Amino acid sequence: MSCETSVLTVTLNAAVDKTYRVEGFCLDRVFRVEAGRIVAGGKGINVARVLHTLGVPVVATGFLGGHNGAFILDSLKEEGIPGDFVWTRGESRVCLAVIDPIGGTQTELNEIGPEIHPDEVAALEEKLAHLLPRFGYVTLSGSAPPGVPADFHARVIRMGHEMGVKVVLDSSGDLLRQGIEAVPYMVKPNRAELSAVFGREPASLQETVQMARQLRKKGIQIVVVTLGKQGAVWVSAEGEWFARPPEVEFVSAVGSGDSMLAAMLYAMIHEMPPAEVLRWGVAAGAANAAVFGAGFCTREQIEQLVPKVECERVAA
Ligand SMILES: Nc1ncnc2c1ncn2[C@@H]1O[C@H](COP(=O)(O)OP(=O)(O)OP(=O)(O)O)[C@@H](O)[C@H]1O
Ligand SMILES: [Mg+2]
Repeated sequence: MSCETSVLTVTLNAAVDKTYRVEGFCLDRVFRVEAGRIVAGGKGINVARVLHTLGVPVVATGFLGGHNGAFILDSLKEEGIPGDFVWTRGESRVCLAVIDPIGGTQTELNEIGPEIHPDEVAALEEKLAHLLPRFGYVTLSGSAPPGVPADFHARVIRMGHEMGVKVVLDSSGDLLRQGIEAVPYMVKPNRAELSAVFGREPASLQETVQMARQLRKKGIQIVVVTLGKQGAVWVSAEGEWFARPPEVEFVSAVGSGDSMLAAMLYAMIHEMPPAEVLRWGVAAGAANAAVFGAGFCTREQIEQLVPKVECERVAA
């Protein structure tokens, strides 16, 4: 595979994602439930799933541990996604979601993840130093389990600079803040993550664009801010665009940001112009919102929505 057209996704806190459908779910009662759906999860893994769906060569890396880690690696293999992970002493986490189609609720119990030891952090950095030069893009998605230093993403971004690899940052909290200071190629916060970085919520689309411009001034080439079902904003040297998704039959938007990131990378690898890249991203976010699970939309579902995305230039 050609280096420029392949993607490495980093998932520090991979998960066994278990989802139950429980009609009329409420607290303090016993429910008898059918076997839930169990899949490999974690934001970088969701990104890898959609990249694989779109035919982009991808490798998933990060930390895995114990029986849950073995399950995650096995299910990635079944899906056709190669994994190259660092094994930890601690057990990879389980994230449990209960969906109630009647009440329209989604309740989640997400384990924080295993304690990662300093030698395991060092092992992943070493693995990344070897892997990075083989890829055109690296994605850093999601939160970190306990023990991972808050400058982890920043360090990988600096590694990317040294090796000429484009690093895309989609994280939150200190990992995002410190990552931004290391100047990734692209950053993709949602509204809450952007607000946390600036210490205030953008009051309008114009203010959202201004905040994105401020991030660009640091040297970040592409800033995309996602606004849930309202759509997303793109700010780069080529210009500024706002795109609105079409209405879809809503199931769950968990993983819409991850699906969007994957589709934008697909479009960038195929050298589409910025407005088209944004269109593909917004279409994939919407396609994901219309299916059960994170990153399980099909190529056809995404492709069908692309022309239905409204995309316009942001007024200066
Ligand atoms: N209900 C929805 N209907 C249509 N499109 C949606 C919906 N929710 C999200 N999207 C699309 O997906 C994109 C990403 O969604 P969102 O802003 O929720 O990302 P996120 O918070 O990073 O999600 P996650 O981190 O769970 O993957 C949005 O910019 C939008 O284009
Ligand atoms: Mg997100």
